[in-house]
Amino acid sequence: MPSKASLSILVAGGAGFLGSHLCDRLLEDGHDVVCLDNLQTGDLTNIAGALASPRFRFARHDIVEPVPPEIAEQRFDRIYNLACAASPRSTRSIPSTR
Ligand SMILES: NC(=O)c1ccc[n+]([C@@H]2O[C@H](COP(=O)([O-])OP(=O)(O)OC[C@H]3O[C@@H](n4cnc5c(N)ncnc54)[C@H](O)[C@@H]3O)[C@@H](O)[C@H]2O)c1
Repeated sequence: MPSKASLSILVAGGAGFLGSHLCDRLLEDGHDVVCLDNLQTGDLTNIAGALASPRFRFARHDIVEPVPPEIAEQRFDRIYNLACAASPRSTRSIPSTR
């Protein structure tokens, strides 16, 4: 049982390596999680477990663009931004980051 108050949390890059583990942990702690990810280097398989939770919501979205209105209107207690390709190999393969 979660011992702390349930928070509303946005995780950008939540389908990536670190973000997906963060989403899992936040759900485990009883929080509501919205994950924004453009799936540039992330993958839905990383959040397969989270997607089964009624407290998790995923939106495929590039954070360079304005967030969708239904998410922009939402109040978040915390925002984590992990939306950035991490590995040099990934970064080299993305022309806009050269
Ligand atoms: N993995 C590590 O050991 C490590 C260590 C220190 C710091 N970091 C930093 O943590 C962050 C995340 O690392 P990671 O290993 O999880 O990388 P990752 O590539 O697995 O995850 C990044 C996620 O962000 C998404 N993303 C990238 N650009 C986006 C955009 N414009 N809009 C929406 N989503 C976008 C990708 O699709 C992916 O799901 C990076 O900034 C990295 O530099 C990672």
